[in-house]
This record gives sequence, C-alpha cells and structure tokens, in this order.
Amino acid sequence: MEIRLDGKTAIITGASRGIGEATARLLHASGANVMLISRKSEVLEGVAKSLGERASYFVANVGDSESARNAIETTLDKFGSIDILINNAATNPYFGSIMEIDESRAIKTVQVNQIGTLVWTQAAYSSYMKENGGSVVNVASVGGLSVEWGIGFYNVTKAAVIRLTEQMAGEMGPKVRVNAVAPGLIKTKFAKALWESNEDIVASKLPLRRIGEPDDVAKVIVFLASEAAGWITGSTVVVDGGAMVVPSGGIT
Ligand SMILES: NC(=O)c1ccc[n+]([C@@H]2O[C@H](COP(=O)([O-])OP(=O)(O)OC[C@H]3O[C@@H](n4cnc5c(N)ncnc54)[C@H](OP(=O)(O)O)[C@@H]3O)[C@@H](O)[C@H]2O)c1
Repeated sequence: MEIRLDGKTAIITGASRGIGEATARLLHASGANVMLISRKSEVLEGVAKSLGERASYFVANVGDSESARNAIETTLDKFGSIDILINNAATNPYFGSIMEIDESRAIKTVQVNQIGTLVWTQAAYSSYMKENGGSVVNVASVGGLSVEWGIGFYNVTKAAVIRLTEQMAGEMGPKVRVNAVAPGLIKTKFAKALWESNEDIVASKLPLRRIGEPDDVAKVIVFLASEAAGWITGSTVVVDGGAMVVPSGGIT
C-alpha cells in the first residue's frame, strides 16, 4: 500500500530537525505541500529549501497562540488548505524531582507541550478543518503512559497530550480525526542525554535491539494522517521498539 497525499497541505511544528523534520520530508515525498514551523529561521529555511517546491516555513514559538493563528492564515494564503496538522514541537527545560521544579519552568512546559497542542489545533479547526475536514496527529511519548524519575513533569504534559487527543477526537468527529503517537527513545538532539554515552547498552535492553530513528516515528505519523487510517481516531500508537513490554526480569 502506497500512501499518497497529493494536493493535501500539512503543517508540522518542530520541523527543523529530529522527528518533525523526518515527518515533513516523508509527507512531502508523499505529495503533500508542507509548512514547516520552529523558532529559529536559519535551519528551518535550510530544510524548506532542500525540499524545494511545495515547501514553505514560518517561524513561531508553538506556545504563542497569536503565532499559531498567524501561521494558519499564512498557510491558507499560500497553499489554500490545511488538511493535516502535526503537533510535534515540545520542550523539556527541567530534569529532576517534580517536588523541586520551579514554577516558571513548569508553566513553560505546560504552555508549549499542552497548550501549544490545544491552540494550534483550535486555530486549524476553526479556520479550515471544521468546514472541510482534516487529520491531526499529536506527538506524545511513552512517558505519558508510565512513571519515571527525572523527566516526570514533562511526562505529565505528555499524558495530557494523550488525553487531549482523546477529547479532541470525540469532539471533532466525524470530519476531523485526531490521533497520537507515543515514541520511545529516539535518536535526536532532544533525547541525546539519554542515549549518547550508552547507546549499545540501551539498545540491548529493547526487544528490537536498537534505538529508534526519527523515520520510525515519521512513518507511523504519516499513516495516521492519511486516509489509510480513515477509521482510526482517538488512538495513541506506541512506537518504542518494544520498550513498554520488556519483561520485569529484563531481556535474556
Ligand atoms: N527523541 C525522543 O526520544 C522522544 C521520545 C518521546 C517523545 N518525543 C517527542 O517527539 C517530539 C519531537 O522531538 P525530537 O526528539 O524530534 O526533538 P528535536 O530533535 O530536539 O527537535 C525539536 C524540534 O522542535 C522545535 N521546537 C522546540 N521548541 C519549540 C517551540 N517552543 N516552538 C516551536 N518549535 C520548537 C525545534 O526547533 P527550534 O529549536 O528551532 O525551535 C526542533 O525543530 C517532541 O514532542 C518530543 O517530546 C521525543
């Protein structure tokens, strides 16, 4: 089965590198117009230029709702539709016990990861998808499905993204489908501290014996965004090389 998205337009937040860039490249290769979003113009422009026609970019912080509305309007002016929204950008400014997180970093994490997902979806929905239909894919995390030390507060916002996905799916059907992916450890800058110094050890503990690549997640996002997933909404697909099902005694 080949997924084709010719004539569709997708907005991808956090598209300058990692999972967002891989997703933007795959959506574009599938025929979609792509609008790339991140905070820094230089790298973003480079990705857009490397894609060529049908690719554009808009500099925005996803935690800023006015930027979301401007990006949506710019996309509609340029491409005429917003059929797909990928809420991928996220932040994790704190590592440690949630008993010690300061309020400003807690608020920033909620603002970008949770409120960002909400306001970009609201903007796409009210400006286009409510009338014309569409598909939203939110990038959560396996951390939103489990409890772990160190990135606990970030994980709280990812749990919220999973619940937002379910709530939105219930409210936005039948014209709009909303799903999420929950990646495990993926080889990107975001998670470097978790894999860089001990990649082989981390990989050896996974049923599939390797750390994920951005493309592993991008392929699932593109599937969920496409009509191939036309009867799926409100779901969160775990993409983790089996990390969530490691037996308690470990892999032998
Ligand atoms: N890597 C993993 O192991 C892993 C696991 C589970 C879930 N995830 C999730 O996967 C998603 C992508 O992460 P990644 O690993 O691909 O990260 P990454 O390689 O660090 O890329 C993050 C992207 O988001 C952009 N970004 C960050 N903060 C932003 C903001 N406030 N507004 C707009 N853009 C922003 C960055 O560009 P600028 O700096 O230019 O803004 C960049 O394009 C995130 O939702 C993350 O929580 C990742």
